[in-house]
Amino acid sequence: MNSFETIIYEKHDNGIAHVTLNRPQALNAFSTKMRDDLYEVLSAIKADDEIRAVVFKGAGDKAFCAGADLSEFLTAPSAVQARRIRAVRDLWRLFLSIPQPLIAALHGYVLGSGIEIALFCDLRIASHDVVFGLPEVQLGILPGAGATQTLPRVMGLSRSLDMLLTGRRLKGEEALEAGLANQLVNREDLIRIADECAQKIASCDTVAVRNAKQAVRQGADMSLDQGLTLESMLAARTRRKE
Ligand code: CAA
Repeated sequence: MNSFETIIYEKHDNGIAHVTLNRPQALNAFSTKMRDDLYEVLSAIKADDEIRAVVFKGAGDKAFCAGADLSEFLTAPSAVQARRIRAVRDLWRLFLSIPQPLIAALHGYVLGSGIEIALFCDLRIASHDVVFGLPEVQLGILPGAGATQTLPRVMGLSRSLDMLLTGRRLKGEEALEAGLANQLVNREDLIRIADECAQKIASCDTVAVRNAKQAVRQGADMSLDQGLTLESMLAARTRRKE
């Protein structure tokens, strides 16, 4: 187990890693320190072939993550500085480049940057108390970690615009119905079920799993024709165990 200031990172013998957002006193709000800690952990995961699936979760009872740390808003770096940081440590593109499947185990509030982290995961398993929301426009800002792009890819334009333009929150059943959550489970079963899902993935052929993820993720931004070419290329690589 590796404890950072804002997250806990655990790599287990069965090929599964856990990343826990660990600022429960602030509902796991996403701070600049958390960005740096996540960048370090994701870089390690990406380079570690022993890890076959990753589960993201939030510490405490109330939230996976209540969004960007609002206490840092007044001390936020200038736009120029922010762009410079992003050029060196682009956490969101790093998320997209992770070859292993990422599973978000979501409970309580999943707001702003919290939902954006969940959207970079490949599967979202949520407990019945989950509340998804994008309060950014109400704060006079735009989502800064991809939600304007990732949310429509997960649940379509009109439902996404509803959430993005009005800040309307989606609770358990509605989120499940919208496809934002893959599965809705009891709170006490959340981590066990997310782990079982990770174990199922870890028991499959690693190359096939990684290439299937790449085919879907990359293919989603291509024409059908290009996507089919990508699929053939990845199928051939899978046969060669590449
Ligand atoms: N940043 C910093 N601290 C936060 C926080 C946040 N986003 N959300 C909650 N906290 C802190 C609270 O200040 C409080 O701390 P204290 O106990 O020291 O007072 C503690 O967490 C518990 O929170 P509440 O007492 O407010 O809990 P609640 O149950 O009454 O309300 C809540 C829960 C509705 C989620 C409420 O905390 C809330 O509205 N939080 C802010 C949500 C938000 O607007 N997030 C930012 C989204 S924008 C974004 O993420 C930006 C981006 O993409 C660029």
